[in-house]
Amino acid sequence: MTAEHEAFAFPDGFWWGTASAGHQVEGNNVHSNWWEWEKLGLVADGTRSGRACEYWERFSDDHELMAQMGHNCARIGVEWARVEPEAGRFDVDAIARYAEMVEDLASRGLKVCLTLHHWVMPQWLAARGGWMATDALERWGRFLDRIIPAVAPHVSLWVTVNEPMVPVLAGHLAGYHPPMQKSPVAAMRVFNRLLEAHAIAYHRVHNLVPRAPGAPAPMVGYAAAYQWVEPFDTEGWRRPVEQAITRIVQKVSYKAWDDAIASGRLLGGRRVPGLAGSVDWLGVNYYMRISVPLRPSALSNVASGVYDAPEGIETTEMGWQVYPPGFRHTLMDAWERLGVPIWVTENGCSDSGDDMRRRYLLSHLAEMSKAISLGADIRGYFQWTFMDNFEWREGFAQRFGLVEVDQADPDLRRLPRQSAAMFSEVIAANAVTPDIVARHSPGCLDTWMDTPLVG
Ligand code: BGC
Repeated sequence: MTAEHEAFAFPDGFWWGTASAGHQVEGNNVHSNWWEWEKLGLVADGTRSGRACEYWERFSDDHELMAQMGHNCARIGVEWARVEPEAGRFDVDAIARYAEMVEDLASRGLKVCLTLHHWVMPQWLAARGGWMATDALERWGRFLDRIIPAVAPHVSLWVTVNEPMVPVLAGHLAGYHPPMQKSPVAAMRVFNRLLEAHAIAYHRVHNLVPRAPGAPAPMVGYAAAYQWVEPFDTEGWRRPVEQAITRIVQKVSYKAWDDAIASGRLLGGRRVPGLAGSVDWLGVNYYMRISVPLRPSALSNVASGVYDAPEGIETTEMGWQVYPPGFRHTLMDAWERLGVPIWVTENGCSDSGDDMRRRYLLSHLAEMSKAISLGADIRGYFQWTFMDNFEWREGFAQRFGLVEVDQADPDLRRLPRQSAAMFSEVIAANAVTPDIVARHSPGCLDTWMDTPLVG
């Protein structure tokens, strides 16, 4: 019996939906630091976020499509730069619009996961030092005081910060995201500030969200980027050295953050009140394996964020390795280290032709099912992403959407891809069934069947 004859099932009540971030879909986030940065002309395909997907105006139709597709949840984000376009001036219309967005999702039966910070900040704050500004945390707190109560009635899951290590590493160390700094000192300071920002947001949600007597406390967590990191070579003299580097890469890219949350201490040792254990649930963003090569290419790998793939391993249009077992290993590792319920807050691939996406999805979902069987408490899955959108430094050329949106189309029509239909079938079955595999991507699970269960 091959794996194609087994069903990979999910628990009752499992959450199924997609994830997005405000700046990438809303359009015209004109008061933000990213909007300013995009004007420098550094986006790979020469684009700027511009009108993006016009989600700001069209969210209701998009939510309707999600509901028609059978999704039961959605992860969206709010943009601080819209809520507070100038220091101290809060835009009540923008706040009301976010309240409408979450209400609209809830009215269609979609549970809401809301991200409070996804890399982007108001330009006025960026201009005075961003997270390093003396009053950044106080300002952050005031923003939270406005936005949290407005959206709270319809939010089930809160993400304080999305992938904090991206602004730390890409923005302040490697310097290819705004503010384009290449300073280990700045990176460490921003790392610490983001930990404090997380702790503030964690407690603000707990303090500000009204609770009926006996009702459960709000679920607040963060979403981090977890790559599965391994030595490039499976044998030979390089491997032990690569193993040592692997441990450093793991530490820098996600463990240092998780460890600080567990200990309540910043880099440098200062204890932050309320930081220790400030995670009710964990958001896992998983896209790829990183294979650490002891070769001259290693340095350019780190600088570009695209790592060499061993022979025979498929890569996405981003150049990222497709490695489904790494998803299971990551989920098990996160579960064993943190021990809190997990939602997969992002997983997906850039695939303009929609040739790879169905096998990527099925093979990753099968691995997630295995992690659940192995005991990990995984409660939901948000595919990245609902529709093609502004992929940061890569512009619109990279297409992660279940739904195609072509920037050349004046109407920005939403055109669901085949993978969107397949995702709906998985949701309806609450399983990756042999039938779905056979019809959409025969044999796609076979490659990964022999990988040992515990990696
Ligand atoms: C981010 C998203 C991004 C996706 C694909 C994640 O790192 O949270 O904003 O679009 O990866 O690159």
